[in-house]
Amino acid sequence: MSSDNKDKFHEYDGIIEHDNPMPTWWLWTFFLTIIFAFIYFIHYELGGGPTLQDELKVAMQEIEKTQATATATAPMETEESLQAAFEKDGMVALGAQQYVAKCASCHGPELQGLIGPNLTDKYWLHGKATRMDIVKVIRDGVPEKGMPPWGPVMKKDEIYAVSAFILSKKGSNPPGAKEPQGEAVE
Ligand code: HEC
Repeated sequence: MSSDNKDKFHEYDGIIEHDNPMPTWWLWTFFLTIIFAFIYFIHYELGGGPTLQDELKVAMQEIEKTQATATATAPMETEESLQAAFEKDGMVALGAQQYVAKCASCHGPELQGLIGPNLTDKYWLHGKATRMDIVKVIRDGVPEKGMPPWGPVMKKDEIYAVSAFILSKKGSNPPGAKEPQGEAVE
C-alpha cells in the first residue's frame, strides 16, 4: 500500500491510517450543541434569563396562590354535581356518624342548636342553604365566630355526607330548638 493516494491513507511501519470524515448528521448535531450553548450562555449568563432561584420563586408564588384559593373555589363543584354526590348510597348514614362525632357538641344532638345555630330551621347566617353554601361553610368554617374549618380535617366525601345529613333534617323541628339566627330562606 504505497502512497499512490496520499490524501486518503497514511502509512507508517505497515500500519495504515484511513481518513474517514465524520458523517454529516453527526457533525450537525455537534454544531447544533455549540449553537445551543452559545444562545444559552447569552440568554442565561449575560442576558435577563431567569436563574434557578427566580424560577423557584415563581413556582412558590404559584403554589401559595393555589393554596390560598384552593378551599374557596375548591374542586369544580356545582349544585348539580353536589346533588349527585349527596344522593349516593350511604351518604346520609355516613353523615350522621360524622355529625355525632364532630358537630353534635356545638349544634346539638338533634341539630337543634347549642353553641352553634339550629341547622334544621329556615334561618341561615351564611348563604341561602344551597348545597354549595353548606359545603363551603363547613369546609372553610367561620373561625372568628367559633365554627371551625373542617376542610383540613375531613375528607371531601365526609363533608358531602354531613351536608347531606343536615339537609335530610331540614324542617325536622326538634324540641328545644335554639332561637332563629340569620335570614329566613325559603
Ligand atoms: C366548636 C363549635 C362548633 C363545632 C364543633 C361545629 N360548629 Fe358549625 N357552627 C358553629 C358556630 C358558632 C356557627 C355560627 C357561626 C357564625 O355565627 O357565623 C356555626 C355555623 C355552622 C353552619 C352555618 C349555619 C348558618 O346558619 O349559616 C353550618 C352549616 C355548620 N356550622 C355545620 C357544622 C358541621 C357540619 C359541623 C361538624 C363537622 C360543625 N358545624 C361543627 C360552631 C361549631
